[in-house]
Amino acid sequence: MIPKKIPAPVSKRLALYHRCVNTLLNSGKDTTSSKELGERLSLKATQIRKDLSYFGDFGKRGMGYDLNYLKESLERVLGINKHWNIGIVGAGNIGMALSNYQGLTREGYKVVALFDRNPSKVGNFVGTQKIPIYSLDDICEKIRELSIEIGVIAVPANHAQAVADKLVECEIKGIVNFAPVKLYLDSVALEDVDISTSFKALTFRIQGGSCGGT
Ligand code: NAI
Repeated sequence: MIPKKIPAPVSKRLALYHRCVNTLLNSGKDTTSSKELGERLSLKATQIRKDLSYFGDFGKRGMGYDLNYLKESLERVLGINKHWNIGIVGAGNIGMALSNYQGLTREGYKVVALFDRNPSKVGNFVGTQKIPIYSLDDICEKIRELSIEIGVIAVPANHAQAVADKLVECEIKGIVNFAPVKLYLDSVALEDVDISTSFKALTFRIQGGSCGGT
């Protein structure tokens, strides 16, 4: 059972722990400790123990964490022990790039449809998986038919709110928004992705700025 009030930064760190645990397993290790994870991720061991304690007791005192058990537990908590079907709205640069990204599929996130308002794109197929591009007019029907739970917004910023509202109307469970605009939504999980924010944070740090941790 996942507690409801998990601070947003915790969920981001859990994804980092999962990646790190996979790396350690691939290097042949069986166990790890909050100290080792902390050193690899530049986080305090106490932070890692606190984050993991939200979801139960993953380790035995003094014995560290069994990596396979920790991996399974993180996958359950992160919801990647099941497959998620994804629909991308906007079959442009970002939409196409995401559709062709095999890393998503490996983690259980399967792009099953794209939607676009440009009639010349509708009816085409994207990438080696031949993912169909549908008209935006059919979006609710396709979301139901293809069991799409996650919607990705990859349209220009001035269209993003309308697209988000449409996805909510179609009863999508969660949205990943690539458009550089704040979306106003009730009752649906939302994650913003903004590469330019990462660049700004980086140039801030290169210039000697500090914001006290990850
Ligand atoms: P693009 O112009 O290549 O593609 C946009 C697509 O959306 C086009 O196929 C267009 O026909 C379609 N579209 C426009 N309005 C629509 C609507 N109302 N419904 C359905 N489809 C619609 O744009 P690109 O380069 O793929 O960028 C997409 C978005 O991602 C933009 O908002 C851009 O600013 C943003 N972006 C975000 C980044 C990030 O780090 N989050 C990085 C790069 C771009």
